[in-house]
Amino acid sequence: AIDIKTLRASTGMVTIDPGFKNTGSCESAITFLDGEKGILRYRGYSIEDLAEKADFLEVAYLLIFGELPNKEQLAKFDADIKAESNVDEEMKKILDGFPKSAHPMGVLSSLTSALIAFNPSSVDVDSEGAMYNAIVRIMAKFPVLVAWTMRKKMGLPLDYGDDSLGYVENIHKMMFKRPNKEYKKDSTVIEALDKLLILHADHEQNCSTSTVRIVGSSHAGLFASLSAGISALWGPLHGGANQAVLEMLEAIQEDGGDTKKYMAKAKDKEDPFRLMGFGHRVYKNFDPRARIIKKAADEVLGSLGIDDPILEVAKGLEKEALEDDYFVKRKLYPNVDFYSGIIYRALGIPVDMFTVMFALGRLPGWIAQWREMRLRKEPIGRPRQVYIGENHRDFKKIADR
Ligand code: ACO
Repeated sequence: AIDIKTLRASTGMVTIDPGFKNTGSCESAITFLDGEKGILRYRGYSIEDLAEKADFLEVAYLLIFGELPNKEQLAKFDADIKAESNVDEEMKKILDGFPKSAHPMGVLSSLTSALIAFNPSSVDVDSEGAMYNAIVRIMAKFPVLVAWTMRKKMGLPLDYGDDSLGYVENIHKMMFKRPNKEYKKDSTVIEALDKLLILHADHEQNCSTSTVRIVGSSHAGLFASLSAGISALWGPLHGGANQAVLEMLEAIQEDGGDTKKYMAKAKDKEDPFRLMGFGHRVYKNFDPRARIIKKAADEVLGSLGIDDPILEVAKGLEKEALEDDYFVKRKLYPNVDFYSGIIYRALGIPVDMFTVMFALGRLPGWIAQWREMRLRKEPIGRPRQVYIGENHRDFKKIADR
């Protein structure tokens, strides 16, 4: 529904569009999304094709540079990333300062910001070469920060990666390697992780991506823009929904698995409860990512031999919602976050790390959007407002108030 008001402000005409529901903030050639038909394409390639046939590093290259890489291009990108895979040891002191109870998203956002102090040349990126250097640096160091964030929480030593491995396998090893234990590759796990990262890699002008572009538009630098994006993603109405979904499914299961009771709560306007993982600002028929993830959840749990009752609770809720007038009328369908947490849980990732995994997947999308914004020389983002406060008032001294 169009809900734009046009109001006359002192300086001319200003449109008010709460939540920017119908306002385009930029022109972009990265991601195409048709919410009515449930289509998602990165640089013209369908998400279904990419999830099945590509790997995450190829998709990252595609998003950032616009074309699928050939063998040489991919090898160079991979080698350039590996050459930057160390994080300054001093960063460990910053991580040390956080209590173990700190939420990983807050830690990750802080570490990403702290990285600027150790890589000052990543800020001033007026040439494409400087931009490329900043991009490979963060592609290399971000997974280390993700792994450290989780390992700190679990009381594990902070290690670096293994340059002989592929990008996603290396991430998995950095997260799960245990002292005095040989790391064993499990292809099912690596493939599932790769697929999840691809499905999260970009989604045009959502809340966190718009944040990255608007912060970047002040020329604050890539890492500062990403740090802001991570904070935006943290919220339960955005990336934080994947943690919220799993906590909701667990609560429903512990409460006896009565999905009808929770459906009723979700529909009750007096009750703040929402069915987490349902609804989307743009998708109004289905979220193509949710379809792929639902299938992957079945496959991963099957091949890992896990029988998670929470998957049944999730399927039960989906089935009821699809037959319920409230959800049908409002076009509320499962979104990408509804089934992703079930897979993350099966992979042994702690619940409060789920949104961090989303950030890891979204990294190339944020980078691509930031790069596009800089290359297009977009002006600083500076929305207007319509002032509705007091008119001029005379100042009163404190004794007279
Ligand atoms: N459960 C119950 N009712 C819902 C839900 C839900 N999950 N989502 C929307 N509604 C209802 C609203 O109450 C509203 O009803 P009304 O018309 O009677 O007032 C109507 O559907 C429209 O909802 P809005 O909040 O106006 O839709 P909006 O586009 O602003 O919000 C959002 C989209 C934030 C995703 C919302 O659907 C939501 O809160 N979902 C749950 C959180 C979630 O899963 N977020 C992840 C989104 S995907 C992502 O970020 C990766």
